[in-house]
Amino acid sequence: MAGLVRRTHLVVSLALGLSMLAAPAAAAQVPPCIFADEVIKAGDADWATVVVDTRQGLLRSYSPGNLVSVSLAHLSGRGKVRSLVVADLAQMTADARAAGVRLAVQSAYRSYSSQASTFQSWVRAIGLNRALKTSARPGHSEHQLGTALDFKAWGGLAPWTNYPRWERTPASRWLAANAWRYGFVMSYPKGAYETTCYLYEPWHYRYLGHDAARAIHEGGLAPRVWLLTHPTPTPTPTPTPTPTRTPTPTATPTATPTLSPSPSPSPTVTPTPTAQPTAEPTAEPTAEPTSEPQ
Ligand code: DAL
Ligand code: ZN
Repeated sequence: MAGLVRRTHLVVSLALGLSMLAAPAAAAQVPPCIFADEVIKAGDADWATVVVDTRQGLLRSYSPGNLVSVSLAHLSGRGKVRSLVVADLAQMTADARAAGVRLAVQSAYRSYSSQASTFQSWVRAIGLNRALKTSARPGHSEHQLGTALDFKAWGGLAPWTNYPRWERTPASRWLAANAWRYGFVMSYPKGAYETTCYLYEPWHYRYLGHDAARAIHEGGLAPRVWLLTHPTPTPTPTPTPTPTRTPTPTATPTATPTLSPSPSPSPTVTPTPTAQPTAEPTAEPTAEPTSEPQ
């Protein structure tokens, strides 16, 4: 038994050791982070393989198909994501909630023009040099793909108002440990600025699908490095459940309370005006001043 434990430990250590050796080698292969406006010739279907960084950006006309409200994932906050993200986002939100963690969205899809105003506001607030490291110039944000989200704790401040505080929240810790299981990866991990092109953003996650997220998690690579060194076909995301399916012939139907509003036991005269299927109360208890996304 002790031999088996030692052998298992050795295999795990070797695997981790090899991935740690592989990370700097892969990072050395990727193009440096420069500021340029190389145009990304990507179609709508390339959401999982395209690299959006300081060097190459999306066209003003790039707009993802099928944008839907994040509330469809039973998630509090404003914003839109591609519909293909919803099933995994909803599952992640539900599992976090079951673990006692309430997630919310600070910012999701951003058009080219909203990136322009966001970037300008950060330039005014912190100066051009600092803004270039933390806020994307128009076309250079993953938020334009419709698959990137900035998370925050439900009722909490914008995560970038003081990120050491955000890092210590259960929401941040839970996401850092678990988001990959749902196909999401932290795009700008700590200490990787030279290869990610933006400073540490522990709130910014991009959906890449399960296989890529697992590979990135296990390889210990920054997503940009992984994308540039492991080109892969676009993954098939988890299908969104459709209400038209025929029920399975089981004796007792299992109710999933988070997917559909439970029937009210007493008749209500006036329907609630916000009929969104959100598990969170719509109004978050936050009094934070309006802050630009980052
Ligand atoms: N803050 C990240 C880099 C963005 O603007 O997309
Ligand atoms: Zn972001």
